[in-house]
Amino acid sequence: MQIIKYEFQPHGDDRGQLVALEEMKEVPFDIKRVYYMYDTTEGVTRGRHAHKALEQILICVHGSCKILLDNGEEKVVVPLDKPNEGLYVSNVMWREMFDFSEDAVLMVLASELYDEEDYIRDYDEFLKYVGK
Ligand code: TYD
Repeated sequence: MQIIKYEFQPHGDDRGQLVALEEMKEVPFDIKRVYYMYDTTEGVTRGRHAHKALEQILICVHGSCKILLDNGEEKVVVPLDKPNEGLYVSNVMWREMFDFSEDAVLMVLASELYDEEDYIRDYDEFLKYVGK
């Protein structure tokens, strides 16, 4: 499985760092939605679903967490712990987010508005969807 991890160029100076993300530039889709998770309860796993169409970029803007990506054939765990690093998650990819540090803020840039119809929440259904 090809893992696409972006390293965003911070605009750093003696005041600190700033990362700017624009659709179709640093981010390979039009950004229709942004959401973020924080105050995540210790030991929990979030996600556990795939999307039919949605593409996303996950950025752990503070703290750290791990992302499991599963295309139905192969599973890969990607650690995220840098605020200028983004993990691309394609459509039809099962994902789980876990191992959140207490101070973790996981921000997600999404290519579509929230649509429950786009979710595949059952793993067996996901495997059927990808033809496995
Ligand atoms: P949920 O899908 O359970 O989050 P995760 O995949 O990270 O475990 O979403 C939690 C709640 O937030 C659920 O009630 C749906 C709502 N929600 C929105 O209203 N808009 C959104 O963009 C997202 C991602 C979730």
